[in-house]
Amino acid sequence: MERELLGKKPDPKRRQCWSTTTVTLILFLITNTTSILLSSGAGASLVRRYEPRTVRIWDDSGALIADLNATRSALESSRAELAGLHARLGTATLLLQTLLADVVTAARANDDQQKQAATGWWARELAGELKLAVGNVASAGEAALGHACGRFQDELERYMDYKPSGECPSDAALEHLLMRGGCEPLPRRRCRPRSPARYVDPAPLPKSLWTTPPDTSVVWDAYHPCKNYSCLAASHGFGFDLRGRHEKGLWTHDDGALAYSVDKALAAKPKGTVRIGLDMGGGGGTFAARMSERGVTVVTATTNAGAPFGSFVASRGLVPIHVGPARRLPFFDGTLDVVHAAGELMAGWMVPGDNMALEFALFDVYRVLRPGGLFWLDHFVFPGAQLNATYAPMLDRVGFRKLRWNAGRKLDGGAKKNEWYLSALLERPMT
Ligand SMILES: *[C@@H]1O[C@H](CO)[C@@H](O)[C@H](O)[C@H]1NC(C)=O
Ligand SMILES: *[C@@H]1O[C@H](CO)[C@@H](O)[C@H](O)[C@H]1NC(C)=O
Ligand SMILES: *[C@@H]1O[C@H](CO)[C@@H](O)[C@H](O)[C@H]1NC(C)=O
Repeated sequence: MERELLGKKPDPKRRQCWSTTTVTLILFLITNTTSILLSSGAGASLVRRYEPRTVRIWDDSGALIADLNATRSALESSRAELAGLHARLGTATLLLQTLLADVVTAARANDDQQKQAATGWWARELAGELKLAVGNVASAGEAALGHACGRFQDELERYMDYKPSGECPSDAALEHLLMRGGCEPLPRRRCRPRSPARYVDPAPLPKSLWTTPPDTSVVWDAYHPCKNYSCLAASHGFGFDLRGRHEKGLWTHDDGALAYSVDKALAAKPKGTVRIGLDMGGGGGTFAARMSERGVTVVTATTNAGAPFGSFVASRGLVPIHVGPARRLPFFDGTLDVVHAAGELMAGWMVPGDNMALEFALFDVYRVLRPGGLFWLDHFVFPGAQLNATYAPMLDRVGFRKLRWNAGRKLDGGAKKNEWYLSALLERPMT
């Protein structure tokens, strides 16, 4: 019903375009009518000057010559006036032609826009569930869908190929591929994700923060290399080994260099004023767990790349959100007390030879931070020469203030030649 009403509403853009044109036309007509009236006034005086006068041939020739002379000069001046009028008409015609051409161009552009709005950015016309989910993009009242989805029509059609009201296919890989490519947000689906075979209630807080859930509480996707948590804990770098040495030391010990502790970072602000935040690329949620123990609510932005990170974070009693690196952060301006960004995520923002993606992402972090909010850049990996040439000036340009800054050569796992780390505690200025 509402949609029907909306559908009938004229496109405001189109209406605006036409009304501008109409106003211009009316103005144009008024201007020209005025000029024609003025001209005809001049014309009237001209006619008056032509008023036939009785020329008496028997008059003396001197008077006749004077009369002729006067008539000639009157004729000359009216000729000049006529030429002026002609020129003005020429200009007016030119104006009218330009205006008409503009109107035609605008109408054509409008048609193109409408045509594009109808098919969107798709190569083929949409069908089935995808068409239903996306709805009428032109009305903008339907589902939001990432612009880059247009580049993945094949994959998206596969993603939307399911039995409505049935079980969703197990397709974490496809989902990840689409989101990585910038097809975000994904369309909604009318299917139910499969429940794990033997789901058990999660552990209560605060025990849940450091409890690995049973393997049966998760649906293991075919695409994940591990099919249980002990496999994940054993594999290097996943952060699932909650009792492991690596996880235990994370953010609890400050080495005065690249590794900062949460307590040192929180001490940069008046006690208790860092209350809510975001951990970008937060993996299994250990940063949020540490912050939770200090009364700070941190949302963990993660993906299911390689492992069920989302379920794992949630099982710990922490809030996972599913956003990829290409996405504008789903937070209001000036609201968060802290944003923590781990190195791998920063790498996702870096496009070789193009630092624009990174700069846009950094401005977005600045946007969501409140005045005085902290941006904790943690082990950002970069080619050594780029620190002073590129990244430091970029962070200045965004407007961050440096509270702490540590750069050091990367020496651990698989370090390439001249790779460096940067850790920094930055602040959005208070004013
Ligand atoms: C005719 O008019 C011109 C100026 O318009 C003037 O110079 C000339 O003397 C006039 N001739 C006669 C015969 O009045
Ligand atoms: C976990 O999975 C690995 C391989 O994925 C397997 O070798 C191992 O036996 C599994 N362990 C348990 C406890 O199920
Ligand atoms: C960057 O410049 C600072 C001085 O401003 C210098 O101390 C530092 O070594 C430079 N870093 C790199 C990686 O070149």
